[in-house]
Amino acid sequence: MLRDYETNNIVELLYKNMYKNQNYIKKKNIVSKLKFDKKYKIKDIFPLLNKVIDSSDPDTSHSQIYHGYQTAQAIYNNYFKNLELKDIYIKDLFSNEDWFLLDHVYRTMYNTTIKEFYNEIKEWDWLILIGLIHDLGKVLVLNEFGGYNEWFSVGDIYPLGCSFSKSNIYYEKKYHELCIDYDNKKYNSQLGIYKKKCGFNNVEMTFSHDYYLAESFKKSNTNLPEQAIYIIQYHSFYAWHTPKNNIRGYDYLASELDWKYLPLLKLFQKADLYSKKDEIEQDFNYELFDKLLNKYIPNYVLL
Ligand SMILES: [Fe+2]
Ligand SMILES: [Fe+2]
Repeated sequence: MLRDYETNNIVELLYKNMYKNQNYIKKKNIVSKLKFDKKYKIKDIFPLLNKVIDSSDPDTSHSQIYHGYQTAQAIYNNYFKNLELKDIYIKDLFSNEDWFLLDHVYRTMYNTTIKEFYNEIKEWDWLILIGLIHDLGKVLVLNEFGGYNEWFSVGDIYPLGCSFSKSNIYYEKKYHELCIDYDNKKYNSQLGIYKKKCGFNNVEMTFSHDYYLAESFKKSNTNLPEQAIYIIQYHSFYAWHTPKNNIRGYDYLASELDWKYLPLLKLFQKADLYSKKDEIEQDFNYELFDKLLNKYIPNYVLL
C-alpha cells in the first residue's frame, strides 16, 4: 500500500486545517476573485513548480515537476505500446473490496476493457500528457498566484454544501465538525443543497489545484478532450474514486456521466500513485512529452 498516512503528523494537520477552514461561502468567494488573466506557456510553469513540495503527500518528497515526469512516464510504460492504448480490463483497476462495493449494474457495465468502454475516444495519447501536467495547479501556493494556504491548494477534495462523508480521510478524527458549515442545517444532510444524482459538475467542491487547473483549461484555447479535463478536475476526489471505510462517498450526487468516467479516474489514480515510489533517477521520454504538449496545448494558457 503506497498511501501511508499512519505516522505523518504534518499531513494530519493539513487536513485538520482544510476541514476547518474550507467552507461553502469561502469557496464561492475565492472563485469569484479569480481572474485567469495571466498568460503562461505550460513550459514556463514547470520551473515555478520546482519550488513546490506538497506536504499533504506522504509518499513523495520530490518536487512536483519530478512527480509530473514520473506520472507521465508511468502512464506511458504501463498503459501504452507504441502510443496505442493496451487492453486494460476495467476490473483490474479496482481492488477487490472496491469492485464488490459497486452495484451489479455498474459491475456489468464495467465488465470490459477501457478501449471498448470508451470506444468514442479514438486517440489516447493525451492521457500521458495529463500525467505530466495534472498537478500544475499547485502553483496556487506561490505568491504570484495568490499564495493560498496548502489547505486551499493540495490534498484530497470533497463536496461542500452537504454533509461530510465517512469515506474521507481522517473522518474519525471529527475535524470536519470544526467547520462553520457543520452547524448549518442547510448543509448538514446527506444531499444538503443538492438534488440526487445532480452530477459533480453541479456540486461546489473544495477549492484546490484540481479545480484551478481544470478551470484554467476550460478558459484557455487547448486541444484537450473533455475527458482529460474531467480527470484533472476530479483526480483528488478520493472519497469517490477510492472508497474508504467500505463506502463510496457521495455516490448519491453522481450523475450517469460521473459513473461513466469513474474508470478513467481509477486508471489515472493508479498511475499517479505508482509513480510516487522514491526511486533512483529515471529516464524520461522528454521528446514525447514535448510532442504531446505541442499537439494538445500549443498556445498560452490563462492562469
Ligand atoms: Fe494532484
Ligand atoms: Fe499527482
